[in-house]
Amino acid sequence: AGGARQRRRLLGFQPVEISSADTLTVPDGYTAQVLIPWGTPIRANGPAWRRDAANTAAEQAQQIGMSHDGMRFFPLGPDRGLLVLNHEYADQLLLFPDGDAVMTAEKVAKSLAAHGVSVVEVALRRGRWELVDSRLNRRVTMATPVRFAGPVAGDHPSLRTGAEPRGTLNNCSCGATPWGTYLTCEENWNEYFATDDPSWVPTPEQARYGVTREGYGYRWHQGDPRFDLAATPHEVNRFGWVVEIDPRDPTAKPVKRTALGRIKHETATVTESRGRVVVYTGDDQVGEYIYKFVSAGRWRTMRATGRHPLDHGTLYVARFDDDGTGRWLALAHGTGPLTVANGWRDQADVLLRTRQAADAVGATPMDRPEWIAVHPHTNEVYATLSNGPGFPNAANPRQPNPFGHIVRWRERHGDATATTFEWDIFLLAGDPAFDPSVPLDAAGMFGSPDGLAFDGDGRLWIQSDISNSSLNNPRTYYVNLGNNAVLAADPVTGEVRRFAVGPRGCEMSGISFTPDHRTMFVNVQHPGEAVATMDRPTPQNPRAVSNWPDADPDGRPRSATVAIRRRDGGVIGR
Ligand code: FEO
Ligand code: CA
Ligand code: CA
Ligand code: CA
Repeated sequence: AGGARQRRRLLGFQPVEISSADTLTVPDGYTAQVLIPWGTPIRANGPAWRRDAANTAAEQAQQIGMSHDGMRFFPLGPDRGLLVLNHEYADQLLLFPDGDAVMTAEKVAKSLAAHGVSVVEVALRRGRWELVDSRLNRRVTMATPVRFAGPVAGDHPSLRTGAEPRGTLNNCSCGATPWGTYLTCEENWNEYFATDDPSWVPTPEQARYGVTREGYGYRWHQGDPRFDLAATPHEVNRFGWVVEIDPRDPTAKPVKRTALGRIKHETATVTESRGRVVVYTGDDQVGEYIYKFVSAGRWRTMRATGRHPLDHGTLYVARFDDDGTGRWLALAHGTGPLTVANGWRDQADVLLRTRQAADAVGATPMDRPEWIAVHPHTNEVYATLSNGPGFPNAANPRQPNPFGHIVRWRERHGDATATTFEWDIFLLAGDPAFDPSVPLDAAGMFGSPDGLAFDGDGRLWIQSDISNSSLNNPRTYYVNLGNNAVLAADPVTGEVRRFAVGPRGCEMSGISFTPDHRTMFVNVQHPGEAVATMDRPTPQNPRAVSNWPDADPDGRPRSATVAIRRRDGGVIGR
């Protein structure tokens, strides 16, 4: 554009400093209000939160769940809307008064109720957001009936267990459709299944997803045979999907949209091109891939003719070539290597084994793909790669890569349905004291990018998720970076400024804005999480690391949503 025109500075706030304090810090001139912590009753007559975690499973099902993660604000009117948020997992040491040494059917049921999704109406009154006692308020938990749609239909033999399908699991990031629904992503679903049957062995497909006999410590199978791999072998096939929820209809069943593939879904970022919907999704594990789904036709026409736009279309996986170009490789049965002759029965088989199909077509392994965001003006696509060992490819240029990076691509002709693109590295995250190639200073250095979203002005908001095993280890690269943070970046200049720092042990997640961009909602997930043995919370000392947000000497740390506003009522970040 014209050289004479002065570009307005995009980042208009004073950066906050790196901090290891047990508090949430925002810039001068901003306020932060805690909303709906874990255990908040979703209706006015609901069961009150008990700070010793003595609420029953039935009570937890009427309260906000644990581990707030992906989130979206759906406006209902001026200063009023629905907050829809994921509850990724349960910290079972904090969930029960007596910890998790013994698991019972009641404790498993409470953990199921602490998972899933919350839908709550909120309203801004005299500068503060309040929970509204609305008929739309709803919990979706691991006990909620759901249905399947797309090529892996509800009557598919792989889904049959003798019981109706229920629940959604390890809901991490999310998305929203242009027709007003919420998409929630099932991430580390494999971790909840296990068996004490020594004769059980995983299939190659189960091994590829990390399903193991031992599981990962939840021990739900000891209280509920639904999660026993030997007793209920098909239950695990019901997870790993993107799930659509209509937040305006509390009676509507959540729907698992199987055409989007079965992976450890991190995000379901929706954009439109030539009337079609395009959904970008990452598979967050070391060496996994980035995917996109393109609807078969124009979404308005499809809906008008009774074909759901997320049930009919093409799933692709990304190949990033070292010359800065890339290609979307179709995971379509009967094409390329995905043939009957090669052992692929049909499209449902391709989707149930999405990772193996992506291996077969030659996708590019990445350093843990997390969130994906589309620039509102340029249509450029940005994706966070959290960290990893590095791979011998140019899109993951550091080996090892403890700090992570953000990759960016431009679809051919700016058309999100295109099958080719050009890519570059937008940003190498980290601490320049350990890696001089990191283009960040004290005002913006961070590591392990995870949450990612654009606002309407084109500011790129980044949320960090440095693991507590790194944060608590004085010998890691992370010694100078403090608690996890929210940052803003200028996608043109690459400038990064720290906007908010979370309390101890948390990650920052779930960024969403009101339509006027005068409130930013973020989630503080797992304050107080610790992995070093000396820091582990115990029933005697549940606040070993943090007692945010209540600062209650007899309480325990709680995930919560935070509403951030400017004291002058202005646009966030401007
Ligand atoms: Fe649940 Fe990949 O973060
Ligand atoms: Ca998390
Ligand atoms: Ca994440
Ligand atoms: Ca993460």
